[in-house]
Amino acid sequence: MSARLVIFLIFLAAGNEPCAHRGWSERGVAAELRAGEEGRVVSRIAFGSCANQNASQPIWSAINEFDPQLFIWLGDNIYGDNKRPPRVFGKERTIGPWKNVPVFFPASEQELRERYRLQKSKPGYSNLRRRAQVIGTWDDHDYGLNDAGKEFSGKNITQKLLLDFLDEAPDSPRFRQAGVYASYLFGPKGKQIKVILLDTRYHRDPIRSDGSILGETQWAWLDKELRAPATQITIIGSSIQVISNLSATTAPLFHMECWGRFPKERRRLFELIEKSNRSVVFISGDVHYAEITRYDCATGYPLYDVTSSGITQGVEKVVPSLAFLVRLAALVTPATVRVYNSKCRYKSCTYGMPNFGAIEVDWDATPQTLRLEARDSNGDPVLGVSIPLSDLQVSANSIRHRDCILEVHLPWILRRRLSILVFVSIAVFLMLLIVLVCIIISLANRLLRKCKID
Ligand SMILES: *[C@@H]1O[C@H](CO)[C@@H](O)[C@H](O)[C@H]1NC(C)=O
Ligand SMILES: *[C@@H]1O[C@H](CO)[C@@H](O)[C@H](O)[C@H]1NC(C)=O
Ligand SMILES: *[C@@H]1O[C@H](CO)[C@@H](O)[C@H](O)[C@H]1NC(C)=O
Ligand SMILES: *[C@@H]1O[C@H](CO)[C@@H](O)[C@H](O)[C@H]1NC(C)=O
Repeated sequence: MSARLVIFLIFLAAGNEPCAHRGWSERGVAAELRAGEEGRVVSRIAFGSCANQNASQPIWSAINEFDPQLFIWLGDNIYGDNKRPPRVFGKERTIGPWKNVPVFFPASEQELRERYRLQKSKPGYSNLRRRAQVIGTWDDHDYGLNDAGKEFSGKNITQKLLLDFLDEAPDSPRFRQAGVYASYLFGPKGKQIKVILLDTRYHRDPIRSDGSILGETQWAWLDKELRAPATQITIIGSSIQVISNLSATTAPLFHMECWGRFPKERRRLFELIEKSNRSVVFISGDVHYAEITRYDCATGYPLYDVTSSGITQGVEKVVPSLAFLVRLAALVTPATVRVYNSKCRYKSCTYGMPNFGAIEVDWDATPQTLRLEARDSNGDPVLGVSIPLSDLQVSANSIRHRDCILEVHLPWILRRRLSILVFVSIAVFLMLLIVLVCIIISLANRLLRKCKID
């Protein structure tokens, strides 16, 4: 979806489509359990999304250097669907209101298998698989089709292919359920981390329906998972962003998929979390840049969403010489929930080159702290926040500075700032073009007349 970010750079019409220690599942699923390791403390978790299997993927060495005990795939783990070249004219027109075929179409099972094989054979990733447990969920391109939801007919086949890629045990119930959601528990009592991976595709109603993202079966499962015995930290992985609702400030230029576009469903998620009394942090992918967001008014404590995207895909990579424009656009787009602090590499506090997410827990510090970061392909942090675990609990001082303003609450002129800027720029450009054409015509006329007179 994220790819749409580039659309505002209309002049760039070339637009590339965007962007353990061992644990065990509580359902006994997917465990890759290695005997004797269940109790090991987990303090380093990496995650990532949006990895084009065709591209070289140098970032794995930075991930391996971070030495995570757990790596979490958050979707677009391969680009499984096929893409037609952009065409304005001809039999297969993919652009404009007169287009007659969609840009993306599903691949065959054979093609998908080959793409997963290619991804799995990347040396850096193979290396990671040897040292860390790898778990994951999917997003649209590995589910099988750009922006697809429950209507996608190939989903049972692609479910099997993803689970094979993740080395799920052949007898795992995860093969038999409808969708790839799963949960895991890591660490000994007192230092436990629960990881819940959502499936935001298999049951998702159409965009703009304000229907369901998870579907009732998955909701019932999630409710049970959140009611399960308390853990010190609960990480919820969602392929799409939970807190940010960028569409509210970028429409009508482009839209992103996110929980914000299913407001009822998002409220339900926040209510479940509030009821659960768990310390939840979200991680997400999809958008081809990294961002940390925070919302203070969903539960009784600040809810963070750390977005890392992608392993290869980045909005600033599309046209590298125009990267500054992308950062400028990020800067002028109002983002009420984005975390701005001195740890950001750029003023926009977004990062549009390849990156991965890094979570570190300092269990020995007093108070115990959680560091959430996005890191670049050298392993250097580009965004980050450190939070005492005690801040992720409902208490009198967990929210010092309560800020409940969402993107949709902004005044119209501020909300549409990016669109206004782009449309005004285009208008000025067109006017200049017209003036130029007029000048050329009148010059030519004058020249012609002069010739005749001569
Ligand atoms: C990867 O390369 C193959 C073969 O060159 C091509 O068919 C496919 O469309 C490419 N996929 C992506 C996601 O670039
Ligand atoms: C897909 O799998 C689910 C259960 O996992 C099953 O109920 C459904 O009928 C299957 N659909 C198809 C098209 O095979
Ligand atoms: C997100 O933005 C869309 C407009 O693009 C709006 O319809 C929706 O209600 C917003 N969601 C939230 C939770 O603010
Ligand atoms: C909520 O969790 C905290 C710490 O995890 C605990 O101290 C508190 O008793 C819990 N509250 C309820 C209502 O369960």
